[in-house]
Amino acid sequence: MANRILVFYGSYRSDRMGIRLADYLVAGFRARGEQVELIDARAIGLPMLDRMYKEYPRGEAPAEMEALAGKIRAADAFVFVTGEYNWGVQPGLKNLTDHFLEEWFWRPAGIASYSRQRMSGARSNFAWHGTLSEMGMAVISSTLAVGPIGDTLDADGKPIDPAGPLLEKAFARFAADLAWWTEAAKIQHARTPPPY
Ligand SMILES: Cc1cc2nc3c(=O)[nH]c(=O)nc-3n(C[C@H](O)[C@H](O)[C@H](O)COP(=O)(O)O)c2cc1C
Repeated sequence: MANRILVFYGSYRSDRMGIRLADYLVAGFRARGEQVELIDARAIGLPMLDRMYKEYPRGEAPAEMEALAGKIRAADAFVFVTGEYNWGVQPGLKNLTDHFLEEWFWRPAGIASYSRQRMSGARSNFAWHGTLSEMGMAVISSTLAVGPIGDTLDADGKPIDPAGPLLEKAFARFAADLAWWTEAAKIQHARTPPPY
């Protein structure tokens, strides 16, 4: 059965580049037969964090937050597409993730970072690893680091020379690793419900 994967991306910039990687990943997982959806933080447009989802009385959270909570709870795995601003995480994606906590628990997550130059968002990749672990996800060891993103993917998210083929190779391993941990988690969920 297909795994339900959510791909999160959170740049709010008009000229954003990371959407290329998000689109590439969605297409790649779909080609592998997975059930995948892009969660674009800018399109959802949650406000700066005031109340977390769980702090609203049942049924009173804003509709877009309620809908997203349902998608997160129903997912088997997550992928975070992470750009880097001044060695840190992008605020739009961080703001979205901070609205939730228990909704993330007990599922694997993969990190795919990128940047305009060769550092490939490595520092945001590192920062997200701790954040996702704190939020109850099991972060897989395989990762993607894409840079320069403009030499790797075109505006439609299609791989281009010179760096595109390297991403294709890395994605195959990343996707296989995520699938393995996702299957493992699904078996465990069926056998033993999470303790809390
Ligand atoms: C405010 C800001 C800070 C940035 N800081 C970094 C940085 O620390 N490291 C880096 O590799 N690239 C940095 N960049 C360049 C980004 O890698 C590049 O603009 C990338 O396309 C940003 O992702 P986005 O286009 O999806 O918003 C920065 C860009 C902006 C706008």
